Amino acid sequence: MTPYRFEQRLLHWLIAVSLLPLFALGLWMTARAGANLWDDQTNLLYGLHKALGFAVLLMVVARLVLRACFSAPPYPASMSPRLALAAKLMHGLLYVLLVAVPLLGWAGVTAYPALITVAGQHLPAMPLIVQNEALAKKLFAVHGTLALILGALIAAHICAALKHLFINRDEIFARMWPSDASKKTK
Ligand code: HEM
Repeated sequence: MTPYRFEQRLLHWLIAVSLLPLFALGLWMTARAGANLWDDQTNLLYGLHKALGFAVLLMVVARLVLRACFSAPPYPASMSPRLALAAKLMHGLLYVLLVAVPLLGWAGVTAYPALITVAGQHLPAMPLIVQNEALAKKLFAVHGTLALILGALIAAHICAALKHLFINRDEIFARMWPSDASKKTK
């Protein structure tokens, strides 16, 4: 079994552990904003969401660069071509949304503008995006909808990974696990 490169596995799990608080923060802060609760706590939630979301964007870009430089290890021969195609399509869609969702959030806070994050730090403005509150609201609406679709796809992705680990008991899960299982001796 050939695993992904260590850097690819590390980024995969760093992104994975960042996404859960990112979703929680996104839903929590918009619920507070919807209830018109504009206080320090809501501002902190927004600031953390923006900072973590931007960090995820940078990690996803790094992952795409690595993916372009090093092809994915081949699937085991036991995996049917149809399942391999379905997995490739799913991973492609996950990459598209993992780029589109934070880009739309960043574009939205640039257009609004609301680039402040935490401890007085500001994100850079997205190039070519003009200040326009109406545009920002449209970008946030698409950001929120695509984030929920991304959440559903990630749930399906986790179920598929767990099926490989516990039911199929094949090598698929180990390809992405941080420790190098291929070094194990029999
Ligand atoms: C993969 C990365 C990201 C995920 C999964 C994500 C997820 C979410 C979710 C679930 C919501 C709540 C949507 C709703 O309830 O309608 C949200 C809202 C929001 N996100 Fe993100 N987000 C990400 C990245 C970013 C980035 C990079 C920024 C800005 C730099 C950002 C800024 C915002 C803002 C300002 C809102 C509130 C929009 C509104 O008030 O309508 N997000 N996000």
